[in-house]
Amino acid sequence: MSDATPILHMLSPQKHMSPFDVNMAADAGYKVIIPYINVTLEEVTPLVQDAIFSRPPDYGVRTGFFIGGKDAILALDMMEAARKALVPPFQLSVFADPAGSFTTAAAMVACVERVLRFKFGRGWKGTRIAVFGATGVVGFASSIITALEGAQVRLVAHRGVERVIKSAAVSKERFGVDLEAVAGETEDQKRQIIEDAEVIFAAAAAGVQVISKEQKAFAKNLLVAADVNAVPPPGVEGMELFMNGEPLPDCNALGVGPLAIGDIKYKTESGLFKQMLASDEALSLDFRHAFALARQLVA
Ligand SMILES: NC(=O)c1ccc[n+]([C@@H]2O[C@H](COP(=O)([O-])OP(=O)(O)OC[C@H]3O[C@@H](n4cnc5c(N)ncnc54)[C@H](OP(=O)(O)O)[C@@H]3O)[C@@H](O)[C@H]2O)c1
Repeated sequence: MSDATPILHMLSPQKHMSPFDVNMAADAGYKVIIPYINVTLEEVTPLVQDAIFSRPPDYGVRTGFFIGGKDAILALDMMEAARKALVPPFQLSVFADPAGSFTTAAAMVACVERVLRFKFGRGWKGTRIAVFGATGVVGFASSIITALEGAQVRLVAHRGVERVIKSAAVSKERFGVDLEAVAGETEDQKRQIIEDAEVIFAAAAAGVQVISKEQKAFAKNLLVAADVNAVPPPGVEGMELFMNGEPLPDCNALGVGPLAIGDIKYKTESGLFKQMLASDEALSLDFRHAFALARQLVA
């Protein structure tokens, strides 16, 4: 194993690099951490090449790039640009987790999968999922992870279906998955979506309730509802922060709450940093790797 000092270059297209991610990287073991802000896609190649050529190739596995921000597609594009910028044998590892969304989505999907398996004896194949907050980064990543596992995923639009249609098209083009965009703006539309769903992901903005007690009463097919929102009121009325497969009040489904998900999210993000630190080869980590680790963590 290389004894080179572990260095992490943390890139954000936004005005700030997330303090949460900086702390996670330090606690995982990075000794030198440098944040870069307002980074554009075009700047990734020169930054990566500047980093690789300053260290001997075998030190490259101790050089990491982290990509944050708030835009999943841009983060994936930056990751791809970083990979393409490498000039073998010069190397480094890259990990993308914009707004913590890849590890949060991975954790939510892994927690719900555990409940589906142990309480209902089933997996994702053919499971009907409704994603609220589908245009957000957590909604986006959780839709793709579950669609890749064979679920039938509906992206629910709360204001204009065009934006979720666009999101579904991007997911098809990039990952080959078929996501269904549905309008969920009126009470009737929402009622039909909730009636049909076997799993609900509540991934809307903090403090936004997307499913009320009255709407839960329509959830005749619902097995599990998961909620990532920890800011009151809950995304799903009656959800408790630490629920992890317990009955959700006022319906027949089970609940998975934000702090049960948050615990696995935290361990997943930390675990991916540690994988980069321990690996003898350069890694490239996105929501698929996050899901693989989150699955192990909940098992
Ligand atoms: N538990 C954890 O460990 C953890 C970790 C990270 C994040 N989170 C939580 O995860 C959630 C999603 O985060 P994110 O970063 O993906 O957020 P985001 O990118 O800002 O997306 C928020 C989503 O909520 C939708 N939305 C906003 N207002 C709404 C409303 N009134 N009704 C229905 N949908 C609405 C937005 O739709 P439009 O854009 O169309 O308005 C968007 O799809 C947040 O609650 C965040 O706090 C939890």
